[in-house]
Amino acid sequence: IQWFPGHMTKARRQIEDKLKLIDVVIELLDARIPLSSRNPMVDEILKGKPRMVLLNKHDLADPVVTAEWVRYFADQGLQALPIDAASGTQVKEILPRAKALWAHKIESQLRKGINPRAIRALIVGIPNVGKSTLINQLAGKKIAATGDKPGVTKGQQWIKVGTEMDLLDTPGILWPKFEDQMVGLRLAATGAIKEEILHLDEVAFFSIKYMVQHYGTALQERFGIAEMPDDLDDPNQIVSVMEAIGRKRGAIVSGGKVDLDKASLIIIRDLRAGKLGRISLEKPTDY
Ligand code: GTP
Repeated sequence: IQWFPGHMTKARRQIEDKLKLIDVVIELLDARIPLSSRNPMVDEILKGKPRMVLLNKHDLADPVVTAEWVRYFADQGLQALPIDAASGTQVKEILPRAKALWAHKIESQLRKGINPRAIRALIVGIPNVGKSTLINQLAGKKIAATGDKPGVTKGQQWIKVGTEMDLLDTPGILWPKFEDQMVGLRLAATGAIKEEILHLDEVAFFSIKYMVQHYGTALQERFGIAEMPDDLDDPNQIVSVMEAIGRKRGAIVSGGKVDLDKASLIIIRDLRAGKLGRISLEKPTDY
């Protein structure tokens, strides 16, 4: 999706319509880039609805960094739970957390002698963060359309998650941040925005630079890189690493030179698929 102000207003109105039906909001973020995958207006849009944060795709993220993010959100009074919606890891933890958020209402209903109804929940997040995958996991069967291209979520009904939770079958789609070039690079590196929007070589350059800084040893060992950059601000040194990876992965043109476009594509694909290891591209201390 290309987001324009009109689309944002429409997306916001759609979520606000759904919120009227909802007790608890499940905010889905990408564990590798929690703040960059967060909608800039989410607090304003959700207007104090009880909410939990899920850090999805934790299987691809650095567990040490994810633990730092959990503390970061806890400091803000938000419970964040790392999950892997694709395999279902930790998905069972969602219902108890939703119940805890809604416990005061359940108790007051019980006090009044009313049988508490199922908690009504809505999943919100930016495109490609895994909303449909999570809905399918919670539903226990395939309902929502999933795909690895942004913008495939369709259809509106309640899905029963056991007897205690009803989930809206269509998630709330939020737009990502755009104003910051670094945010754009992180979103592109993880696949949240389409490649066409940013140059692949820039995205690969950014990713390698971040990895040299934070995952240098792993990168060096994996690709047998003889010399790692000693100056992160020297672009030539970063490009040398990209070339070393390209050489190792066969991105060579005639004359033995490295095809940097091809190397960039390989780097991005390997990174997104987790083949470079579990890598986070954003830390609380980056801010
Ligand atoms: P839109 O329909 O564009 O709004 O996307 P969405 O948020 O519904 O995302 P979707 O569920 O379609 O997932 C996007 C891609 O991420 C798919 O290829 C999923 O298989 C993948 N995915 C979702 N959750 C996980 C996860 O926890 N780990 C990994 N590795 N991949 C995941």
